[in-house]
Amino acid sequence: MARAEGAVAAPASEPAAHAASVECRNVEKWFGELNVLADVDFSIPAGSFVSVLGPSGCGKTTLMRAIGGLTGIDAGEILVGGRRVDGPPREAAIVFQQFGLMPWKTIYDNVAFGLSVRGFGKAELEERVRHYIDLVHLTGFEQSFPYQVSGGMQQRAGLARALAVEPQLLLMDEPFASVDAMTREVLHDELLGIWERDRRTVVFITHSIDEAIVLSDQIFVMSRSPATVVEQIPVDIARPRRERTVRGLPQFGELREHCWDLLERGGAEEAARS
Ligand SMILES: Nc1ncnc2c1ncn2[C@@H]1O[C@H](COP(=O)(O)OP(=O)(O)OP(=O)(O)O)[C@@H](O)[C@H]1O
Ligand SMILES: [Mg+2]
Repeated sequence: MARAEGAVAAPASEPAAHAASVECRNVEKWFGELNVLADVDFSIPAGSFVSVLGPSGCGKTTLMRAIGGLTGIDAGEILVGGRRVDGPPREAAIVFQQFGLMPWKTIYDNVAFGLSVRGFGKAELEERVRHYIDLVHLTGFEQSFPYQVSGGMQQRAGLARALAVEPQLLLMDEPFASVDAMTREVLHDELLGIWERDRRTVVFITHSIDEAIVLSDQIFVMSRSPATVVEQIPVDIARPRRERTVRGLPQFGELREHCWDLLERGGAEEAARS
């Protein structure tokens, strides 16, 4: 049934069977003498889109790398899909800020990469790669190399590569930070469309309050080092969403103010201006 965009609070949707929950229990992380994460404690239900907002250098990437099993933790535990993380969980795929594309491979081969290492047969691999390339509107650019397409297109290719393995958990570290504002809005709407169709769990790191509100079910605000989650803010805005519509809603302004206050209290005003 169609609902007007942004008209009513989003209903709690069915937890997706193909999505993994994430739990951080009293997570602590040190780099030598530097205590980066202290007592980070939260649960993300399967199929939920959570943004993590916080000042530069507070530990967002470290937290994401820990959830993705790319870095160890010093205390506490992290569970993905109910299993303790002690290496990259097979449920997870990561989209990095700098696209993470292999420059010597075509767009097609970059998107195919995760599937070939997972041993997909030729026919299924081809079908999936074409499907995800089409989903991010890159059909026609399969044989281009990353340097031959724009930053926004590289970002879409990075997204297609992560989506192609159909991960139960998508970890995204400021994926849209290096594209211009208009491209970012287009990518936001595309991500919303893809995500709303096929709800997987997403942990989305960002510096941008606006981006966090537009995309998320919840926003976790982190404090400065040692970083911890100071507040978990629900974003009760109906889906399907589109950026321009969300920006026009009164809740958008209220949530924006609230996030600003929290970040300012943490002395992070510069972080929120992007
Ligand atoms: N491998 C490492 N060795 C030592 N210190 C590190 C390492 N990785 C990160 N740090 C330090 O940990 C802190 C948190 O870094 P992190 O990259 O997680 O921050 P961030 O919140 O992602 O920052 P930004 O918003 O700028 O991306 C910083 O002080 C950083 O210098
Ligand atoms: Mg970072």
